Amino acid sequence: MPAWVLEPLRTLRWCAQQYGEVFTLDLGPFGRFVFVCDPERIRGIFTGDSDVLRAGEPNGEVLEPIVGLRSVLTSDGVRHLRQRKLLLPPFHGKRLEQYRPWMRGAAGAMVDRWPLGQPFAVAPSLQRLTLEVIVELIFGVQDRHRRERLLDLLPRMSKAATTIMFLPALARDLGPGSPGRRFTRLREETDAVIMAELAERRHSGEDQNRSDILSLLLTARDEQGQRLTDEELRDELLTLLFAGHETTATALAWAIDLVLHHPPVQQRLVSEAAADDEYLDAVIKEVHRLRPTVPNVVRRLHEPFELGPWELPEGTVVSPAIYLAHRRSDLYPDPHAFRPERFLGAQAPSYTWLPFGGGVRRCIGAGFATLEMQEVLRAVFSRVELRAASPGRPERPKRRTVTSVPSRGTRVVAQRRAG
Ligand code: HEM
Repeated sequence: MPAWVLEPLRTLRWCAQQYGEVFTLDLGPFGRFVFVCDPERIRGIFTGDSDVLRAGEPNGEVLEPIVGLRSVLTSDGVRHLRQRKLLLPPFHGKRLEQYRPWMRGAAGAMVDRWPLGQPFAVAPSLQRLTLEVIVELIFGVQDRHRRERLLDLLPRMSKAATTIMFLPALARDLGPGSPGRRFTRLREETDAVIMAELAERRHSGEDQNRSDILSLLLTARDEQGQRLTDEELRDELLTLLFAGHETTATALAWAIDLVLHHPPVQQRLVSEAAADDEYLDAVIKEVHRLRPTVPNVVRRLHEPFELGPWELPEGTVVSPAIYLAHRRSDLYPDPHAFRPERFLGAQAPSYTWLPFGGGVRRCIGAGFATLEMQEVLRAVFSRVELRAASPGRPERPKRRTVTSVPSRGTRVVAQRRAG
């Protein structure tokens, strides 16, 4: 258990070497986890009965303080499908294209603020950017004061939440200065700002000129003709923030770190990115393969479940180990090498490339994140000359809640681009 908490990726690698494609880890209070890394069994888990293989319930045990128990991430069964159906249309690929210019402008402005000629970590500015993108394009907050409040409150609330997420005993309000009190205060303040935004938007009615995702969610109706209530909307907005903010920032930090430590990739990216998306997309796919932001996902069994020759009892957590599936040498020759070319002109076979999970729980924001990554990487590699602050090896992964981030925040040195 301590090895898993401190070094999850190394633990997964070691267990796979010792025990093969399916192995069990007893993770104490989190239960018995059966990790799986072969595509066929992963397919069986992702396409199995979602009433038996539940994700909302285990997600909720960790995320309840932030997003409640009724959001798309923390619900199961009929409720989950209802929320998912309401949330999916605004994230449709074609619709998302309209966000590209705003993302491009914001990414360019971020790069233009970077210091020149001195080492610095890019991760904080990526975190800030992905947050601004969500507040602008998903929440659609136009009031300047409210916008500033959210940009200040949301990262502080996320940080406070991180402290209590894995130690639920700390979530209780134990008086002034306690992590529980700090989180509760920030949560209440955030709620108040979001509720004020919702009240204003409901009052001002539908505005055809608005294209943010909340505008669509405000008018969306389920099959019974019911709208999302304000409380449901608030929980979904916080879900989208929680699911989309650090994940995208982390994937970008890894992308920059890996490219800078592979000069031929960097050269090709710089020369082709302006003209052609194909290489850029291959780089993005290879980053997700080698450094999946979410190394494993979970499903808790509500009934016994057959996994190959084993019958797993109710209560077991089955966990597709995305990180291990991506490093199989039978699927990806030379699997530990960073080689975007492997994705040029080739699609990964199904259930072998899984950075966004799968089945009825597949990431709703995959298209949104990909668009954002394209625009940010294009801005980064076209506006400045960039090198790694420490050449040699890429940074080591370090655990941060459910994701693994570059241990030093991707330290770089930027120079004005010649010409
Ligand atoms: C590079 C960035 C991202 C990565 C790597 C990522 C990855 C994932 C993964 C692995 C899952 C779990 C799937 C499962 O359990 O099978 C997930 C779910 C989800 N993601 Fe993302 N995500 C990213 C960005 C985003 C963004 C930008 C948004 C929205 C703004 C978003 C919204 C969601 C939601 C709502 C779910 C829950 C879906 C459900 O339970 O039905 N994600 N994501």
